[in-house]
Amino acid sequence: MRSLIDILDLSVEELDDLLKTANDIIDNPQKYSKSCEGKKIATLFFEPSTRTRMSFEAAMYELGGNVISMTGGATSSAAKGESVADTIKVVSNYVDIIAMRHFIEGAALVASENGDVPIINAGDGGHCHPTQTLADLLTIYREKGHLDNLTIGLCGDLKYGRTVHSLINAMSRYEGVKFVLISPKELMCPDYVLEDKDQDSFTVTTSLEEAMPSLDILYMTRIQKERFDSEEEYLRLKDSYILNPEKLLTAKSDMKILHPLPRVNEISVAVDDDPRAVYFKQTLYGKYMRMALILKLLNEAEDKNKVSLMPSDALSDEYKCTNPKCISQCEQELKHKSVIRNNKRRCVYCEHDI
Ligand code: CP
Repeated sequence: MRSLIDILDLSVEELDDLLKTANDIIDNPQKYSKSCEGKKIATLFFEPSTRTRMSFEAAMYELGGNVISMTGGATSSAAKGESVADTIKVVSNYVDIIAMRHFIEGAALVASENGDVPIINAGDGGHCHPTQTLADLLTIYREKGHLDNLTIGLCGDLKYGRTVHSLINAMSRYEGVKFVLISPKELMCPDYVLEDKDQDSFTVTTSLEEAMPSLDILYMTRIQKERFDSEEEYLRLKDSYILNPEKLLTAKSDMKILHPLPRVNEISVAVDDDPRAVYFKQTLYGKYMRMALILKLLNEAEDKNKVSLMPSDALSDEYKCTNPKCISQCEQELKHKSVIRNNKRRCVYCEHDI
C-alpha cells in the first residue's frame, strides 16, 4: 500500500504510466465505469477548494465508486482539537482511500504515517500539491505532444506556490526542460526546491515581458493572500503581474497558458478567448489524472504492506523546526524529525532549513 505525498514519490516511468491510463480513460470512459465498484473515497478538505475536491469526487463517481466528504475543518472534530493523526486513524475505518488538503505544511506526511489506507496529498499549505502537477503534466502532454525540450515560465508567487514547487520537481526530470522563474524578489522560489537541480536550467527574472518571447509554456499563478503574514505586504505585491492580450503580442503562436486556478486578476478575462489559453481545459484533465491515480493506488493497496514515505535517514533529535506553519509545531506529541540534504539540516515535514 502506497500514498502520494510529493510528486517525487512517483518515478518518471510511473508518471508516464499515469498519463497513458488517463489518455485511455479519455478515449474509453466506459471501460473504466465500474473499476471502483464497492470502493469509497473520503475527501477531507481543511482548506477551501473547488477543482481539487470536486474533481476527486467526480473521478471516483466516474469509476463507479462512492464518496464521503468533509469540507472545512470547522465542521469536523478538528475544531474540537482532534489531531490529524487521530482524524486519519478514524476515517481509515470508513473508506478505501483518502484525499486530504490541509493548510499546515507536512500534514499529509503525518496522515500517511497514521492511515491504514492510501493517502493522497491534495495540497499541504504552501508546501506541495502533487495532483495539480498530474493535471499540469497531462495538459502539457496533450497540448504540446511531449514533456521534454520545453521552456516553462513560472510567474507570480513562487515562494508559497505549492503547485510551482511540485511542477518544478516533476518537469526537471524530463530531458531539455528549462525554467524561467518570474517573480517579485519577495516571492522567489525557495532554495529547497531548486538546490538539487541542474542550475543551468534556471533563469531568474522579475520581468514577464522580458521572458515572454522565449516561452513554450507560461504557468501563471495567483498571489495568495491567505499565505501572507502581513496584509500590507500582500497589498504591495498583489498586482505584480497581470497578463493581458497586449502582453501576449510577443509570445510564440503555439505557447500555452496554464494556471492552476483560481485566478483573481492575474489573467485578464480577455485572454480566455485566446487559443493559447488552456487553463479551463486543465481542470478537466485534472479529473482524468485523478481517476488514473485512484486506480493505481487502489490497485497497489491490494498489498496491505505499507510503504512508508518517511525518509529512511530521518532522525528524531533535538533540532526543532521553527516554521510556524509546519505540522511539527501544531500536532501534539509529534516528534521533530530532520534529514541532512546538501549539507543542510531539513525538517522532514515542511522541508524548511533548521
Ligand atoms: N488548483 C487548485 O488546487 O484549485 P482548488 O483550490 O479550487 O482546488
